[in-house]
Amino acid sequence: MPDRKPLIAGNWKMHLSVAEAVELVRRIAAETEDVQGVEVLVAPPFTTLYAVREALGDSRIRLGAQNMHWEMSGAYTGEISGKMLQEAGCTYVILGHSERRAIFNETSEMVDLKARAAVSLGLIPIICVGETLEEREAGRTFDVVQAQLEGSLNNFKEEKFIPPTTVMAYEPVWAIGTGKTATPSQAQEVHQFIRGWLERTFGTGVSAGLRILYGGSVKPENIAELMAEPDIDGALVGGASLNADSFVRIICYEKL
Ligand code: 13P
Repeated sequence: MPDRKPLIAGNWKMHLSVAEAVELVRRIAAETEDVQGVEVLVAPPFTTLYAVREALGDSRIRLGAQNMHWEMSGAYTGEISGKMLQEAGCTYVILGHSERRAIFNETSEMVDLKARAAVSLGLIPIICVGETLEEREAGRTFDVVQAQLEGSLNNFKEEKFIPPTTVMAYEPVWAIGTGKTATPSQAQEVHQFIRGWLERTFGTGVSAGLRILYGGSVKPENIAELMAEPDIDGALVGGASLNADSFVRIICYEKL
């Protein structure tokens, strides 16, 4: 069995003041201090990264950002580079979240450029894919996910190399913030498809080691059954990561 350490990641989206973010991360850190065998990550808004990094101190909780630009610096008003994220203490960056794709017209080509830039800096990308309800109902889930994989990982594909730390995330758009979770078997089916694509593209050894997270209305009540599926290696949690009690319960899913 490949050694894929479960990763529970909180995507705080555009929520929380600096004081609230610090308070939340302090509680998460204190209450998960003894948790072994699970990697924990929080991805706060840009303006709270420094303060959250300070509050984390020597905690093992990782810090991630929710987006970045592919250039290192330059005349890109309103953008943040991967270098800046590293300076703020980030080791991970979420790329191609469906909200960025749908609301901000981010394309897979842009995600590909960002992933390449992130990796060149040593930042670990969490690359998101997922279909809309309309696409699922039209029976196009696998086509859509495959097109997003081909486009977003194009550079890795051409180089025939993907860094083994890269994280994939399957987030069906219809399950995000809706309370509608994909059933464990619906999620597993797509996770298996993603791993199959990774295997055909990069080889078995590589695909078996990459982590694929599930995201979309993950909560303490459904995390254990999702994690029981063979190709689900963690969760990307939105709403339930904004509350210390529910996020800690998700992190401690083995005890639920
Ligand atoms: P919710 O957990 O609020 O559905 O959000 C999921 C998500 O988009 C995480 O990136």
